Amino acid sequence: MEIIVTNTSIIEAPCDTLIINLYEDLKKANKIISTLDQAFSGYLNTIISSQPNCSDFGETTIIYTLGAINAKHIILLGMGKKEDLTTTRIRSLTATALRAAKKIHSSSIALIPSDFITYTNDSQRIAQAIVEGTLLGTYQFNYYKTSKIIDSPIRDLVLIENDQNNTAALNKGIRTASIIGPSVNLVRDLVNHPSQYMTPTKMALHAQEIAIESNLELTILEKEDMKKEKMYALLSVSQGSVEPPKMIVLKYIGDLENKQITAFIGKGVTFDSGGISIKPSLNMGEMKDDMAGGAAVLGAMAAIGKLKPKINILAIIPCTENMPSGNAYKPGDIISSMSGKTIEIISTDAEGRLILVDAITYANKLGATQIIDIATLTGACVVALGNVASGLISNNAALCQQVLQASTDTGEKMWELPNYTEYKKDIKSNIADLKNSGGRMAGAITAGLFIGEFVENTPWVHIDIAGTATIEKEDGYNLKGATGVGTRTLIQLAQNMSQS
Ligand code: BES
Ligand code: MN
Ligand code: ZN
Repeated sequence: MEIIVTNTSIIEAPCDTLIINLYEDLKKANKIISTLDQAFSGYLNTIISSQPNCSDFGETTIIYTLGAINAKHIILLGMGKKEDLTTTRIRSLTATALRAAKKIHSSSIALIPSDFITYTNDSQRIAQAIVEGTLLGTYQFNYYKTSKIIDSPIRDLVLIENDQNNTAALNKGIRTASIIGPSVNLVRDLVNHPSQYMTPTKMALHAQEIAIESNLELTILEKEDMKKEKMYALLSVSQGSVEPPKMIVLKYIGDLENKQITAFIGKGVTFDSGGISIKPSLNMGEMKDDMAGGAAVLGAMAAIGKLKPKINILAIIPCTENMPSGNAYKPGDIISSMSGKTIEIISTDAEGRLILVDAITYANKLGATQIIDIATLTGACVVALGNVASGLISNNAALCQQVLQASTDTGEKMWELPNYTEYKKDIKSNIADLKNSGGRMAGAITAGLFIGEFVENTPWVHIDIAGTATIEKEDGYNLKGATGVGTRTLIQLAQNMSQS
């Protein structure tokens, strides 16, 4: 897709489809609408007044221009109230408008960024949100369709801007979004692929492609390396599967003088059957998504390598299947971990925390000075926060605040859960140091605190994306299936850390 900024009148705008914003209560008092209405000899305002809901948030109304202006169609885009407009809303609105344009087979679409301006945003952020909305909102996963739905791709996105002073800012936003958008869509692809394709080995191959493309240092730990490092928690989870485990390690050095290394750690369970504590068969197929945290870290690194913030990041993604078999680890087993701490296995389905703690110990060994982990960790988090927000657990208020700030900046909602020590008694074992499940009560918190037992004194934030990694029904810039959640927040965090 080509994205251009051009200085043109809306009447002459070089596109098939022109998108026009309609704010509630401001329909007529609008220069753009009145200019167009003249070209339509008053017909446009007639249409607008005859459709009372057309300015509601997310409404789209298609108008055939029949030669009145250069564009073949106008899409009236319902913006809701002007004072409610945020960059998140711009991203979703653009996505909705672009999908409507695709339905009528438009291949070049024009928008007017200056008409999205509010007191909380600027040209650069608007352009970034518009282009992210475009790229995320028109995502399709069709690797496995033999009859590809004839879906006219969008060739050109035209941003109409008549003030030369804004062009540089718009182009900056476009550039950032052109890196971030494809990175999020890459994550969605990784997550949407079935587990029979997306094995740990394939995860490692995709990591290799990303490393080359984004100029990152890559190491893959094989099973033998894991044994040498005594990663018995990860090895226990993987021992029931015929797929060999892989530990992906990527490094981005953007600030040689800085001793600070932030570790991004993502859960990479490519299929979670539950193991011997097997899950019910209904919807078990969804557990191909259990590597969404790992994928988000890969996507974030793909973007970070290109955006080049002035910071250092170490990414670690432990990848394995969790399967039942004669070789599988069992409830009642007591296993060790790279840290030396022993763990009583209550449920083989609480596998995510086991592979994460070995990755965390390894991150500490490699010199991480702060740690963010991201994982589809608990059904309890889905019960607590639904698919609206991801859950956080942290041992460090300052780092948690930084993650929450990045989350606010991107609109990927996150909510901190309490880390009270009282919860820790639920994960103490009688016969080992810890047990891997604290039961049903406060399951998202006890899972997070289990991981926290392994971070030592390193500032750490855990992000549980079990409820947000996928959605059932298209919504704004997200389509059914993988959302790529977390990717933009990790990228934003890296950018924010680079500025401070
Ligand atoms: N991968 C699941 C968590 C999950 C559930 C992700 C629903 C996405 C949607 C995780 O490995 C798991 O099975 N957790 C168990 C933990 C329990 C056994 C302590 C759970 O949440 O039921
Ligand atoms: Mn599980
Ligand atoms: Zn899992």
